[in-house]
Amino acid sequence: MARLKVGVLISGRGSNLQALIDACAAPDFPAEIALVLSNRADAGGLTRAQEAGIATAVVPHRDFGERPLFDAAIGKVLKEAGIELVCLAGFMRVLGDAFVESWRDRLINIHPSLLPAFPGLHTHERALEAGVRFTGCTVHYVRTAVDDGPIIIQAAVPVLPGDDADLLAERVLTAEHRAYPLALRLIAEGRIKVVGNRALVEGSYAAPAIGLNPPDGP
Ligand code: GAR
Repeated sequence: MARLKVGVLISGRGSNLQALIDACAAPDFPAEIALVLSNRADAGGLTRAQEAGIATAVVPHRDFGERPLFDAAIGKVLKEAGIELVCLAGFMRVLGDAFVESWRDRLINIHPSLLPAFPGLHTHERALEAGVRFTGCTVHYVRTAVDDGPIIIQAAVPVLPGDDADLLAERVLTAEHRAYPLALRLIAEGRIKVVGNRALVEGSYAAPAIGLNPPDGP
């Protein structure tokens, strides 16, 4: 069966990109990364892509006066590469409505919180401040509102005594690296159906049992 051609958009170190690269390396994985695109020439993830033999492109947002022009430039590169699904993986530019609509249900994002809690930036600081017992990550289809759209996969991690934002970010990131490849696999297998604001998953996958948060100590 033909593998789904994926384009990954990054702005930084690309650890989620790496998780997707590693998943796609399995011969039976139903997707392949055909292009990694960054808005920053110094994004560490570009090196990861090159090491994996994946084509890269840099479209610097500063080269474009207005967002629609930047979006159009990205869209052109993705189309020319034959991309069928776009994965945002630490891509730190907001994409405009026209771009989002033209990739409707073919554009997904990973966000480091359990949406709809903590959209936007500084998610871990805000989770600690709010005193939540669990946080996590969300893989979702992108809609025109920021960090909104049908949720495909969420992974929860506990907030532990002594956590600071860095420790929490690290724990959430480990969950991200499991959730994103799973979401990509489900989409590539054609097992996600978007109904209204829900992304319904057909069939089964191994999901761990729910957990209670641990106590806080003495
Ligand atoms: C990840 O934690 C991702 O969820 C987050 O940026 C980090 C990128 O790390 N994305 C957002 O905050 C999007 N608004 P990575 O470059 O190592 O994958």
